[in-house]
Amino acid sequence: MSAALSSTDPGGAAIVARGISKRYQVGRHPIDALTEVDLAIPKGKIYGLIGRNGAGKTTFVRIAATQLLPTSGSLTVLGQDVVKDASRVRLSIASVPQESRPLYFLNVDELIFLYLMMRGSDRVDARQRTNAILDELSLTSVRKRLVSHLSGGMRRRAMVAMVLASDAEVVFLDEPTTGLDPFARREVWAAIRRAKRDRRTVLLTTHYLDEAEALSDRVALLEGGRLKIEGSPSEIRESVRLPYRVTVQGGFSRPELEPYGEVSPFDGGFIVFAREPAARELALAALGRGARVSLGPVSLEDIFLQIVGRPIDQDAPSEEEGGGGG
Ligand SMILES: Nc1ncnc2c1ncn2[C@@H]1O[C@H](COP(=O)(O)OP(=O)(O)O)[C@@H](O)[C@H]1O
Ligand SMILES: [Mg+2]
Repeated sequence: MSAALSSTDPGGAAIVARGISKRYQVGRHPIDALTEVDLAIPKGKIYGLIGRNGAGKTTFVRIAATQLLPTSGSLTVLGQDVVKDASRVRLSIASVPQESRPLYFLNVDELIFLYLMMRGSDRVDARQRTNAILDELSLTSVRKRLVSHLSGGMRRRAMVAMVLASDAEVVFLDEPTTGLDPFARREVWAAIRRAKRDRRTVLLTTHYLDEAEALSDRVALLEGGRLKIEGSPSEIRESVRLPYRVTVQGGFSRPELEPYGEVSPFDGGFIVFAREPAARELALAALGRGARVSLGPVSLEDIFLQIVGRPIDQDAPSEEEGGGGG
């Protein structure tokens, strides 16, 4: 999709993917996890890669993080090719290691401190960074606990802490807040925003569209391994066919709403996605009938529904679960 490349100056790009495809071979059964994905991810920004389970997000991140070879296409990180110059790419990136189980023998403090030492920090710097991130992500009280003894959410937070504590220019965070409570989630968001203030590039995958909307300077939507749409949240909002959402409860039957836009049932009433004049007309008509009504621009969640045709948390019946990728 050349639109993705032209909308961002590749000169200012931290990650450039051209025609990236990945086919997994499972027995005689090929799975096309990515098909011809073109992306230019700008430096110093938070970039959200969104999509349902199995959309190909993790596969893309693993290719960019030199953990997995693409089947075809090319991808560079800060100008270095992930296949030909993998060892140089690794110097400038941080991501949760592919097989993090061995690290579970460490406690949380050791996990982060040793990771930083391994990356070349000196002891004083590694100690300061470790303490700072433990504090920032409220992990100080569990710092001496073995990673293997942590709850799933806490362990994820420790891994995110490890990656964010590094001084890597490009940071990969694959679903960093899955399974976290709302409070812990906000702390991770704050730490991600701080990474951006430090002029680092963050590639974030998420299936939480509110998270993508809250954090990302740009987002790319993957569905079935293909890039469906790319841009800043406001660009994407402007590009959709029906940019307004009207919810109406009471007063209208579905056929009465249909002329205004696309109607779907919602919470005892209806959501209508509409263009501007129709949205306004409907809101006024609904007020006139004493119905409960709200009008606003579509959210990323609504846009996803419009583009993909079903909500992000609803798997296609024929699709397989995101297996080895996680
Ligand atoms: N190691 C693997 N072997 C075979 N198929 C895989 C492997 N990893 C992922 N897949 C498949 O590739 C597709 C994309 O998966 P993934 O990149 O994990 O998506 P996401 O991270 O968006 O959930 C899915 O259909 C998934 O089942
Ligand atoms: Mg994944």
